[in-house]
Amino acid sequence: MRIADTADLWYKNAVVYCLDVETFLDADGDGVGDFAGLTQRVDYLAELGVTCLWLMPFYPSPRRDDGYDVQDMYGVDPRYGDHGDVVEFIRVTHDRGIRVIIDLVINHTSDRHPWFRRARSSKDSPYRDFYVWRADTPPDTSDQTMFPDVEDGIWTRDEKTGEHYLHHFFRHQPDLNTANPQVREAIERTMGFWLQMGVDGFRVDAVPFALNENTIDLQQHHAFDEPHDYLRALRGFLQRRSSGNGAGIMLGEVNLPHEEQVEFFGGDGGDQLTMQFDFLTNQKVFLAMARQDARPIAEALRSRPTGLPETCQYATFLRNHDELTLDLLDTDEREEIFAAFGPAEEMQLFGRGLRRRLPPMVDGDPRRLKMAYSLLFALPGTPVLFYGEEIGMGEELSLEGRAAVRTPMQWSAEKNGGFSAARPSRLPRPVVEGPYGPEHVNAADARRDAGSLLQHITRLCQRYRESPELGWGTMEIIEQPHQQVLAHRMVWRGSSMVLLHNLSPEPVVVGFELEDLSEGTELVDLLQPGACRLDAGRRSEIDLEGYGHRWLRVRRQEDPRLV
Ligand code: GLC
Repeated sequence: MRIADTADLWYKNAVVYCLDVETFLDADGDGVGDFAGLTQRVDYLAELGVTCLWLMPFYPSPRRDDGYDVQDMYGVDPRYGDHGDVVEFIRVTHDRGIRVIIDLVINHTSDRHPWFRRARSSKDSPYRDFYVWRADTPPDTSDQTMFPDVEDGIWTRDEKTGEHYLHHFFRHQPDLNTANPQVREAIERTMGFWLQMGVDGFRVDAVPFALNENTIDLQQHHAFDEPHDYLRALRGFLQRRSSGNGAGIMLGEVNLPHEEQVEFFGGDGGDQLTMQFDFLTNQKVFLAMARQDARPIAEALRSRPTGLPETCQYATFLRNHDELTLDLLDTDEREEIFAAFGPAEEMQLFGRGLRRRLPPMVDGDPRRLKMAYSLLFALPGTPVLFYGEEIGMGEELSLEGRAAVRTPMQWSAEKNGGFSAARPSRLPRPVVEGPYGPEHVNAADARRDAGSLLQHITRLCQRYRESPELGWGTMEIIEQPHQQVLAHRMVWRGSSMVLLHNLSPEPVVVGFELEDLSEGTELVDLLQPGACRLDAGRRSEIDLEGYGHRWLRVRRQEDPRLV
């Protein structure tokens, strides 16, 4: 094992943490989170052990889609600070050994973006072609909108010119015409700008939509050999602009089955997205937890594409800022998850997901939560946390839609959960009330509690970072008789680990064989005291408590790591 490699492709064993500046910490007391507040908390994040922050959109925006409706891609929403504050934040973050990636919204803008204002002003506007228009009456597209509860299709008629413009998301988010070379250049310039400001890459929003046939087919007059050329071009640009700084990354949101994700990595060439979220495995993890049967996870992991270049990487997650979308599962599977984790209609969204955080889904059971996060870090790939997960925050269902999971970070039991000194009515969103409110769930208390979820996740971050087998290795499912247990092994350049997770509340004894190892090989527990040895049959038996989990490193004489 060459530890030096892990610094080159840094994202392959990073711990990513997503947050929204608006809801993280308000330093100036106006009720809204800001860069000064976030900078103040970088040491908290360093202590937790995250190595890469993903900032949700902080650009000027009417915020009708929480900032994903961008009005100025170069700007900073003045409520959060200015470019100077961003630079200070990036410097402090880099100083603590943490990288920064930012959301890049390439599929659409806000309808208040100057491009769209000009585009809609006349059919002859030089910006007309920045968006996608049609003169005829569109067919029924109600099955194509991402927000079926508010939009009835993906085309909206614009009064001024009488033509329809394309929008896969809200009607106030017109889709950019990514086939237009001027749009492509404009997006590259945006990337160039933020890279020059010091960011280490991008979380690329809604990628498949930006390469959508609705956009491309209607724009035949642009020479565009194939839609994926666009992603390839962005990656090429990123590579050129970020060499010298260490590799920049593009972490793409591509909510598609594994086989369809292959081409978004660029297939064998690996020349498109650097990373993609593993939406399928995420959904199968929830199915497995609902059924207390680990087989759906094993199945999902086995269906990952093989043979991709080593530079490609999957990002794993439990929850994110959106609803827990279950759209890759079939209806029965989705219903099982709804029944287990979100039976009330108010917990569900768009008929496809749950607008909940994890702790309330499992009735706050600390054993189950700790197992779930252990599993997240043990899955092959790079784990991504959503702010507040580390302390076990819950959702606020009285808020609309996905806002339920986007409430202010709970720092302490003080007013507004320590998020802001302002009057509560000035906050972008109220803090959570009830058993998951800041009196019960907050970072300050969790830091003092040796048994807290925060301490558990901190240790997982540390052990994960020391174990590149997890981020870099290849996975094998270990055969054993219990369907409620996921037993897998991660192998990288001769080093390996055995990971055991019991998805059920009943204790179980897991016996397994590691036939390639020799008798007496020691398996050292990385999370608690203890070790065991393989017997003459290369076998071992491990006790797992209800929701128990173990990380066992196969000890090798020549491995210099501390165990
Ligand atoms: C992505 C974001 C989501 C947003 C949408 C439109 O799916 O994760 O929050 O609403 O894109 O930009």
